[in-house]
Amino acid sequence: MKILVTGGAGFIGSAVVRLAASRGHEIVNCDALTYAACLDNVAEVASSDSYAFEHVDIRDRTALDAVFERHKPDAVMHLAAESHVDRSIDGPSDFIETNITGTFNMLETSRSYWTKAGKPETFRFHHISTDEVYGSLGAEGMFTEDTPYDPRSPYSASKAASDHLVNAWHETFGLPVVLTNCSNNYGPFHFPEKLVPVVILNALADRDIPIYGKGDNIRDWLYVEDHADALLLVLEKGKLGRSYNIGGENERTNLQLVETLLTILDEKRPKAEGSYKDQITFVADRPGHDQRYAIDPTRIREELGWRPSVTVEEGLEKTVQWYLDNESWWRPLQDRKGVGERLGTKA
Ligand SMILES: NC(=O)c1ccc[n+]([C@@H]2O[C@H](COP(=O)([O-])OP(=O)(O)OC[C@H]3O[C@@H](n4cnc5c(N)ncnc54)[C@H](O)[C@@H]3O)[C@@H](O)[C@H]2O)c1
Repeated sequence: MKILVTGGAGFIGSAVVRLAASRGHEIVNCDALTYAACLDNVAEVASSDSYAFEHVDIRDRTALDAVFERHKPDAVMHLAAESHVDRSIDGPSDFIETNITGTFNMLETSRSYWTKAGKPETFRFHHISTDEVYGSLGAEGMFTEDTPYDPRSPYSASKAASDHLVNAWHETFGLPVVLTNCSNNYGPFHFPEKLVPVVILNALADRDIPIYGKGDNIRDWLYVEDHADALLLVLEKGKLGRSYNIGGENERTNLQLVETLLTILDEKRPKAEGSYKDQITFVADRPGHDQRYAIDPTRIREELGWRPSVTVEEGLEKTVQWYLDNESWWRPLQDRKGVGERLGTKA
């Protein structure tokens, strides 16, 4: 299958590109190469005849039409987005333009391309979204696909809006869509502004390891390569017009997650004295910080037979090792704008 992937130079998109290529799919990677992108993420497939890169911004409808015309994809996996909640607090406009208008452009380009091709039943538009659209949970309960949307940050509101557009394009125009909402990802090639790489890299640099609030916010942690596997399964086997929640079955408080990471690091690269945990520093919380996310994975498990392959301990072990082995990847990214700074305080 020829899959047009948007955001394929980002964290999750590049995992999808690598996995799909390894399974024999042709890939057209469309990415605007924002601050969050890194083409090294897809270096292992870049020289393949089955891979093409298009430097394109999804806010540019004309450019998108030309890319679809040139490559004639069988399916679209739409991951391009502004993805960092803290940046959405300081400057929401990019989130509105890319996540909402960009998704609208992707839908319109896909609809026009699919209509001209005679509306093939096999075409798929797979929209990749987040569990953050459901809002914040208390101590009990889990997000199912029927949980009402209740986004609380500019990021999650923009993703919620994009999900509504995708569903509307299916209901109104018959576009063959599938939609997924996943929990927090972690793993190799994670951009060094997100919690897991910040913890590893600050620990190694002997800097404070910042934890927002009391560290009691709970997330369900999903290894990125498991996520990519689930996404390809939904693309191929998901029911049209249906959404699937994807979780890691690994709920942890942020503090538990950080302590697990630092225990692994203490074992793999012990400090001369003491533990990396001594570097933990509690800082002012993120405004509107959602307390808990938890995914009920029943639908994807029962309809498609999918479960994550690793526990969070196994996934974090692989992740720490990857960062220890790949300094040449992360070191230059630390110079990009805003990385290493406290963001998201301008509420
Ligand atoms: N990271 C997570 O834990 C997580 C969880 C749930 C859902 N998601 C969703 O998964 C998708 C991918 O997330 P990620 O963490 O890989 O993000 P990322 O920030 O690492 O990568 C985003 C990619 O999109 C590209 N991009 C941004 N704006 C663009 C534009 N206007 N035109 C074309 N390309 C553009 C960037 O250059 C980058 O390569 C997003 O849609 C995000 O909402 C992420």
